[in-house]
Amino acid sequence: MVTGDDQGMGPIGQAVAARYGALASQTGSLSCGGALELAAPSPGERLVDLGCGRGGDLFRAAAMVGPAGHATGVDATPRMVEAARERIAGLANASVVQGDLAAVPLPAACADVVVSNCAINHAPDKAAVYREVARLLAAGGRVVVSDVVAEAVLPESVRSDPAAWAACYGGAVPEADYLAAVAAAGLADIRVIKRTEPYEKGGVRVLSITLEARAPRRAMEQ
Ligand SMILES: C[S@@+](CC[C@H](N)C(=O)[O-])C[C@H]1O[C@@H](n2cnc3c(N)ncnc32)[C@H](O)[C@@H]1O
Repeated sequence: MVTGDDQGMGPIGQAVAARYGALASQTGSLSCGGALELAAPSPGERLVDLGCGRGGDLFRAAAMVGPAGHATGVDATPRMVEAARERIAGLANASVVQGDLAAVPLPAACADVVVSNCAINHAPDKAAVYREVARLLAAGGRVVVSDVVAEAVLPESVRSDPAAWAACYGGAVPEADYLAAVAAAGLADIRVIKRTEPYEKGGVRVLSITLEARAPRRAMEQ
């Protein structure tokens, strides 16, 4: 299980923490799509960024939602949380919490829009992460995610390699399996709005997709 804690972290969590702990103080893109721009948050909206990394999107989201809105970042890696907090220092409408994407330490229905960029592929239980997305979304809310999926089921040698998971491809599942996890969480109107050409990473074929979906119907009926 991937967690942000030092205690009880499995090999994938340890590899993710090691890679992103080191990358927290570097520059260079860690994204795989344009989820934030495509989500186009409006002034006054409450946004949650899952796997916010150094907080670049969070900083821009805070400007988009303005003083009447709020942007909250979530990340498991302590040094990423520190970097994101530094990035948004002085902003009254942005904050960062440390936590796992499969058990987000935020209240239900706290978000009008959830975004995530290149983070959920690291999570061993993607269905659990999307259940959290469904829980976080307020009635009528939306989610836009850019993430890495695989062209086909990856070989066991890759799927069992923690370093491959940390490098954004070992945890990639075929697009149909990924979308099944989104649907199983009850999210509605699921649509892939962008898809890159497949490319090679670590000897396997992956691609980046950006999907959008709406809050579960039950939330919209409340
Ligand atoms: C590729 S980086 C992307 C960062 C940011 N979204 C961006 O576009 O720059 C992935 C981020 O997800 C975080 N992450 C990976 N697995 C996670 C998990 N299970 N729970 C919370 N955060 C996680 C990492 O710490 C890292 O900051």
